[in-house]
Amino acid sequence: MRIVLLGAPGAGKGTQCKRIVARYGLLHLSSGDILRQERAAGAELGKKAQSYMDAGTLVPDQIIVEMMVCVIKKSPETGFVLDGFPRTVNQARQLDQSLACSRQKIDIILNLKVDNQVVIERLTGRRSCPKCGAVYHIKNLKPKVEGICDKDGTTLVQRADDNIEVVENRLKVYRQQTKPVVDYYKNSYVVCDIDANRNADDVTALVFECLDSLVEV
Ligand code: AP5
Repeated sequence: MRIVLLGAPGAGKGTQCKRIVARYGLLHLSSGDILRQERAAGAELGKKAQSYMDAGTLVPDQIIVEMMVCVIKKSPETGFVLDGFPRTVNQARQLDQSLACSRQKIDIILNLKVDNQVVIERLTGRRSCPKCGAVYHIKNLKPKVEGICDKDGTTLVQRADDNIEVVENRLKVYRQQTKPVVDYYKNSYVVCDIDANRNADDVTALVFECLDSLVEV
């Protein structure tokens, strides 16, 4: 199964992707996570992406498409779920072309729909573990001990782009450049709109309902 998960920053893409891969045995390919890993490793790609990410603007298409096509080519037969990619119509077209070369196609697009105020609350309250990547929230998903990862005891951190000014810019960029991707897919793909304002378990139930219709679990 090949899935694209679309949604504004903070819609819950990463949270839902972790649950999707656990249930359907897919590979989670998050463009944001890959860029952050490249940055942490001091790699050239990470250095190129840094200023765009810190400002909440998009990294140029050429860099992103090359990076994502490369990881998609290495993905297993069982399939993948794309998180944060494609984010422009140009990226979506290039993804289609690349998959067509290997006679593949996206099976379903899940579109997480969320209100701006919910996004701001979720992102400014998000904390994550720099070691294992576990994601928490200061109100909705608290760790057992404040500020400490339940899984490995590491001190939790706040992402540099999760402050209010950058979040507002990310929402603006989403409206201008990523929302048109939903319309692009609605022309020729199955797109499932999901109410992502609801709590994480309710959203997961809606997501699984869409995906179970494609596959026998
Ligand atoms: P990226 O890392 O992709 O960030 P994003 O799209 O802004 O999404 P987030 O990771 O912030 O949110 P999410 O939807 O995954 O929410 P999460 O599940 O964590 O991109 C970062 C940057 O990289 C971009 O700005 C850009 O510069 C660059 N980039 C990446 N891809 C690119 C591309 N294709 N092209 C160009 N540039 C690219 O949840 C958020 C919080 O809410 C958590 O605390 C969570 O616990 C909580 N939560 C989740 N769901 C719920 C719920 N249902 N109810 C209550 N709380 C919830």
